Amino acid sequence: MKWLVTGGAGFIGSNFVFYLMEKYPGDQVVCVDSLTYAGNLETLESVMENPRFAFEKVDIADRKAIYALFEREKPDVVVNFAAETHVDRSVMDPGVFLRTNVLGTGVLMDACRQYGIKRYHQVSTDEVYGDLPLDRPDLFFTEETSIHTSSPYSASKASADLLVQAYHRTFGLPVSISRCSNNYGPYQFPEKLIPLMIANALSDKPLPVYGTGENVRDWLYVTDHCAAIDLIVRKGEDGSVYNIGGHNERTNLEVVKTILRALDKPESLIHFVTDRPGHDRRYAIDPAKIHRELGWLPTTAFDRGMEKTIRWYLDHRTWWEHIISGDYQNYYEKMYGNR
Ligand code: NAD
Ligand code: DAU
Repeated sequence: MKWLVTGGAGFIGSNFVFYLMEKYPGDQVVCVDSLTYAGNLETLESVMENPRFAFEKVDIADRKAIYALFEREKPDVVVNFAAETHVDRSVMDPGVFLRTNVLGTGVLMDACRQYGIKRYHQVSTDEVYGDLPLDRPDLFFTEETSIHTSSPYSASKASADLLVQAYHRTFGLPVSISRCSNNYGPYQFPEKLIPLMIANALSDKPLPVYGTGENVRDWLYVTDHCAAIDLIVRKGEDGSVYNIGGHNERTNLEVVKTILRALDKPESLIHFVTDRPGHDRRYAIDPAKIHRELGWLPTTAFDRGMEKTIRWYLDHRTWWEHIISGDYQNYYEKMYGNR
């Protein structure tokens, strides 16, 4: 089988590439990535020379280049991870989110129609459901929860989901959609909560917690997400949406304190800063459907996953130090400078 994985130089996409290369020694993987600030070829170093792997620097919104690629590669399956993914950046500059996340998805699906594929899989997010109140721990997002977005990022992801469903209904394109909760693990870009806090703590810099730190996220170790997507592509119902999550809810403050404890750093590093505009309060996934229909269950408990993740960032300092020594400094100053 030939997989076309978009966004494979980013966090989850690269972990998915590694997952496929290891699990299916007979399969080929073509990775398409335009290498935005979030894409990093150093991440893919271990597979770059493998004859079953090919890297193509292409923008998914570039119709001509995408069509030429499909014509040449004729993939069986397309898994679309490529996206602008950081909520805070979508607040600063929404435009690029619409271009990549909505128009780019449309271009990929048009190419799938034109050249034919067995399955187009859209990697979506639980953020399309909006948020849940903090005082109702009995409530969870199911696949039937209505779409109700908060940020330009989540609105662009929800728009893409609607487009994917429309292509299924109108054109009969074989599709699936997954909506996962917050991921963590190796190769996550240090603008996101967990790697940002690890990097700051290691340099004894303040840890900027938004608002009161009471917001809740539902954390999933990245390889559990990869395994779920693989199952959905192979065995999931055509046209279906699957929620992915492992009931690992934590407040941001709990996550930050876990990191400080693991690194033996003082809680005095915690610095409460102005809240994110439109900040979603709580995400919590009900993963009953994917468990019932496909037998998926997460395998990495939060404590173990955090241990592995912190160990990885300690052992791969050059990977993230390269990132935070460049342009990222300007972003950090703009985002946190006067907060
Ligand atoms: P990331 O920001 O780490 O990586 C995104 C990748 O997409 C980068 O390599 C970037 O270069 C590439 N990209 C961006 N625009 C592109 C374009 N126009 N053409 C080609 N490539 C482009 O993101 P991530 O955290 O790995 O997220 C991957 C996917 O999973 C996204 O669709 C995201 O919405 C979804 N998701 C993420 C999480 C999470 O917690 N990180 C949870 C649920 C769903
Ligand atoms: O739920 C899935 C989503 O998870 C994905 O769709 C997004 O692509 C991904 O970025 C993530 O979105 P969040 O906004 O939840 O992730 P982030 O790491 O930006 O923030 C997690 C929580 O931590 C959130 O409540 C905001 C808070 N936060 C974040 C940063 C970067 C802080 O308190 N301080 C920070 O510096």
